[in-house]
Amino acid sequence: MPENLFAYIVCGGEKSTGRVAFFAARCEKPTGRYLQGASLPVVCKGFSTPLRAAHCNGNMPGAFRARRGDVIFDDLRAIQLRHGFLPKAELEGLSRRNQTPLYQLHSVASFYPHFHLVPPAKAEIRVCADLSCHLNGACEMRADLERRFAGSRPEDVQIRDVSCLGRCDHAPAVSINDHIFMGMTAEHAEQIGRSAIRGDEIHEPDPQQARAVCKADPYGDGAAQSERYGVVRKLVQSRAWDDVLAQLKAAELRGMGGAGFPTSMKWDLVRKQPDPIKYVVCNADESEPGTIKDRFIMTHLPHLLIEGMIIAGLVTGAKRGILYIRHEYHLQEEILGEEIRRCSRAGLLGKKILGSDIDFDLEVFVSPGGYICGEESALIEAIEGHRAEPRNKPPFPGQIGLWQKPTVINNVETFINVPQILARGTEWFAAQGAGGSRGLKFVGVSGHVARPGVFEVPMGTSMREVIYNHAGGIRGGRHLKAFAPSGPSSGYLPASMVDVRLDFKALADAGSMLGSGAIVVCDDTTCMLDMALNAVRFYRNESCGKCVPCRVGSQKMTDMLVRWTQGGVPEPQYRADLALLDELSQAMGLTSICGLGQIAPAPIQSVLKHFRAEIDAHVLKSQCPSGICFTAAARSGEAQRVGIRP
Ligand SMILES: Cc1cc2nc3c(=O)[nH]c(=O)nc-3n(C[C@H](O)[C@H](O)[C@H](O)COP(=O)(O)O)c2cc1C
Ligand code: SF4
Ligand code: FES
Repeated sequence: MPENLFAYIVCGGEKSTGRVAFFAARCEKPTGRYLQGASLPVVCKGFSTPLRAAHCNGNMPGAFRARRGDVIFDDLRAIQLRHGFLPKAELEGLSRRNQTPLYQLHSVASFYPHFHLVPPAKAEIRVCADLSCHLNGACEMRADLERRFAGSRPEDVQIRDVSCLGRCDHAPAVSINDHIFMGMTAEHAEQIGRSAIRGDEIHEPDPQQARAVCKADPYGDGAAQSERYGVVRKLVQSRAWDDVLAQLKAAELRGMGGAGFPTSMKWDLVRKQPDPIKYVVCNADESEPGTIKDRFIMTHLPHLLIEGMIIAGLVTGAKRGILYIRHEYHLQEEILGEEIRRCSRAGLLGKKILGSDIDFDLEVFVSPGGYICGEESALIEAIEGHRAEPRNKPPFPGQIGLWQKPTVINNVETFINVPQILARGTEWFAAQGAGGSRGLKFVGVSGHVARPGVFEVPMGTSMREVIYNHAGGIRGGRHLKAFAPSGPSSGYLPASMVDVRLDFKALADAGSMLGSGAIVVCDDTTCMLDMALNAVRFYRNESCGKCVPCRVGSQKMTDMLVRWTQGGVPEPQYRADLALLDELSQAMGLTSICGLGQIAPAPIQSVLKHFRAEIDAHVLKSQCPSGICFTAAARSGEAQRVGIRP
């Protein structure tokens, strides 16, 4: 691949459909405000004119490099920035210039929710419809907004649902022209929408917050850059790569992205591959409803994440790292950009790091959007500039990954565990856990709790302690009815199981999973069939459609649950539905290509197991014990939610 280097620009211009990240030639000097010196990669604000992502050579330390995938997305983003959407004539021009068939451009552009193929309305209002926002009145807010804008022209305003925006702790979240607003009311959303229609520039609220002090940071609060990265400094001297693997193995570190795969095994596999070109990828896509811990870690511990990635490079022999981040995480993108520049200046990244003969460089790749991009092989496809459709496995990315090269892919939290273990030792790590579990865990808590947020707790802490002590208990003096230990993929557990511990085995034994630590809490006013439908619908919306069991199965399940929430199903039909549901669940679990299709039945299966009487009441007696279903609002809500994907 070409080694051309580019400066990184974040554009928040008036014509922007959002703060679009793209690459610009270093030689084109922008007029906007530099946040860093011109000799280093820059993050700029305030441009309204897109700069061409093209022909540029340079040799900036730590620079972001444009590659095949970036070029496609950068060109598409630049066109969208100019026009607000991707006009056919522009795509045809791009196809000629890049000698890429038009169908290929179209197939990529039509896959990602970030791109618009038709002109958007002046105010594109998207209300998050997923778990945490649903529990916080998103459905009612959307219905209210529809009423407020009734009679508006479609070219002025369009109101739609959208999948989780990564602000589950500040629900309900709304995106207006790709700017994200948190804790919204219909009145506030209307005000912003109307100013967008008038053509006023709208601004996302500044989410600046003080750095949190975390136990996980071995360098302590306020450490200088020279005091940080101590593990890398020592490792470059000692070159004790095998020792790193041995320590990670002894610590029993497992992946924090959901699957819990042993990290030392993954790194060892890549290390053993004879190919001289290898990659390290950090998965910061974090798009499952309720999952917000990586956003917190990137905000407060960016240096640990980058140190973890450098260590992975040193141990496996990879010279390049890519940090794949979801496009709604603007602030974190800036924080990480700053940290990468600091590391480049300090010689921790780039050629011959810390005066050694080892090269390792890092770049940030901004996701074009979609939950499926978090699946590791889909993420690789996205970086390569394709539709984010998961690959068949094996081969695994450790053998054949990014650009067909051996690739380590880990979650943000997995990477930050590595310097912790190496700096403080495996005994320290083991002692951080409770009840025999090891290490610390960042969990996001959202839904019906008094203090939603991200908390750093010992692994093995009980859910009771997390929900009642850290998150302040159930809001408004109500009682706990159920909780999802990790978003929709973990299914729901009843309040009677609240003493289950945050631990891989304990949660698996409880019929659930630790997953990514996205605890979603439901109080006693919640209808569990409604919550199962909400979760299954999320999977239906986010299925990439590559394989039939998931594409068709998730739609069939959604149709069935919608029918159940409407009641009046004859008993023989209900029995047939239940048998079909089991068959579908088995088929999806066994034959779906990736984890999305395999896990999609979990929410309804868990509700059938723990809340069967509630479902029977809906289906057989047309009664919703919580008074949520069978209302006009619920029905119109469902009608609006169909076909959520733009
Ligand atoms: C649909 C889907 C979405 C996923 N999203 C993420 C994600 O946002 N972040 C993440 O780290 N892992 C996600 N994963 C898991 C990754 O495929 C992969 O297992 C993980 O990044 C490996 O890192 P770890 O070993 O450190 O956990 C997802 C998996 C699936 C099936
Ligand atoms: S299981 Fe679903 S999301 Fe995964 S590859 Fe198949 S269709 Fe796509
Ligand atoms: S922001 Fe709505 S569920 Fe995450």
